[in-house]
Amino acid sequence: MTEGEKTVVVETDELTKRFKDVLAVDQVTLSVERGQVFGFLGPNGSGKTTTIGMLVGIVTPTAGSFSLFGATSPRQLLAARTRVGATLETPNFYPYLGGRDNLLIAARVKGVGDERIDECLDLVGLGDRGKHKFKTYSLGMKQRLALAATMLNDPELIILDEPSNGLDPQGMREVREIIGVLADRGKTIFLSSHLLWEVERTCTHVAIVRKGRIVKVGSVAEVVGGHHAHGEIVAALVRADDDERLQTALEAYPETASLQPAEDGGGFVVGLRSDDLAGLNRWLADRGVYVSHLAPHRRSLEDAFIGLTEGEFAPMTGIAS
Ligand SMILES: Nc1ncnc2c1ncn2[C@@H]1O[C@H](COP(=O)(O)OP(=O)(O)O)[C@@H](O)[C@H]1O
Ligand SMILES: [Mg+2]
Repeated sequence: MTEGEKTVVVETDELTKRFKDVLAVDQVTLSVERGQVFGFLGPNGSGKTTTIGMLVGIVTPTAGSFSLFGATSPRQLLAARTRVGATLETPNFYPYLGGRDNLLIAARVKGVGDERIDECLDLVGLGDRGKHKFKTYSLGMKQRLALAATMLNDPELIILDEPSNGLDPQGMREVREIIGVLADRGKTIFLSSHLLWEVERTCTHVAIVRKGRIVKVGSVAEVVGGHHAHGEIVAALVRADDDERLQTALEAYPETASLQPAEDGGGFVVGLRSDDLAGLNRWLADRGVYVSHLAPHRRSLEDAFIGLTEGEFAPMTGIAS
């Protein structure tokens, strides 16, 4: 094994799943390295959930293979999966129990000590809502509780199937921020999404999948293309209530490569050396700048792949922080 191979957390090799007459996953080959936030991006029906199902062991591949932490045999995979946390859809929580009691049950099932529960509730911002009944939670809170349950065994690899599905922009932002925190802690994250927008803002790497086949894979920067100025990876349009404070904070941001006033509507177009818009959002929030809009300036990912995907992706309009 070489140095490079040691950091591979997920690897698939021509992984394939056929359901009778449906080729759901067609020779998917990808590799996810430690610390990446890997977006598995494709329209509905493109085989994302089926692929994740194979990784977590509830769907048997028809052909091809995969490894988790280098494990390939069923026995090895059983051990490797103790290092994995996965959320396929909102798990079956008990509606009349509080969020905390629900986690208590999940912890018992997983054989995890109770001491992790409050940590995980805090991580997802439900620390003060743990006693409230699950049925009173908003969809965003339910999704965050699911994330907390996923984190109970402190997994190194976190697999999330459409974590933003059905959430409003506020809920999406909360999920994105939690993913940012997990990434900062060095977790490897594999998430599926049909939202270009979300992947572009959340992920370091992306595989674009269509009808079970990967049409493009690489870092978000690679996939977006190297046509930005000043060593920029992405440009973002940022608006806030106070242009002067916004400008000061953007100038001080370590990843800022260029800065110019937006064409109209106020705010700035900032060129960034990193594609971590969540990080920029936190930076501004920490400086008391109330951001009313923060989004990639060029819809580059969409531009790059609209042809390949024939416009099947959900539109990216109307979502702002
Ligand atoms: N258990 C199953 N039996 C038959 N067909 C399935 C099954 N699960 C998924 N499919 C089909 O496989 C394709 C991919 O589905 P899925 O993996 O759920 O896509 P995605 O998660 O990207 O929306 C779809 O055509 C779907 O109808
Ligand atoms: Mg799915």
